[in-house]
Amino acid sequence: MINITYIDAKGTSRTVSAEDRSTVMETALKNGVPGIDAECGGACACATCHVYVDEAWLDKVGKPEQMEEDMLDFAFDVRPNSRLSCQIRVTSALDGLVVTTPEKQG
Ligand code: FES
Repeated sequence: MINITYIDAKGTSRTVSAEDRSTVMETALKNGVPGIDAECGGACACATCHVYVDEAWLDKVGKPEQMEEDMLDFAFDVRPNSRLSCQIRVTSALDGLVVTTPEKQG
């Protein structure tokens, strides 16, 4: 089982189980985690699935590709640990991942 914890902007934490090879965005939507809109459905074309990756997980999650980097320019309050959650592929290596959702999307 792969667990992912989502913390919202107010500090409320929700831990849900994720399917291998799904994405951090899909896992949030499937489990009713608020704070991720995902308007484009995961096509890396909307920046409304923005999350902050917990510092301890940055190396394992890795850096965004150029297309995601460009799309992040449209996200609200972008920080060095910002990622688009539809571009983070879930694997067993990410069991225990913690991400925080921003105050608002887009
Ligand atoms: Fe649109 Fe991630 S869902 S960029």
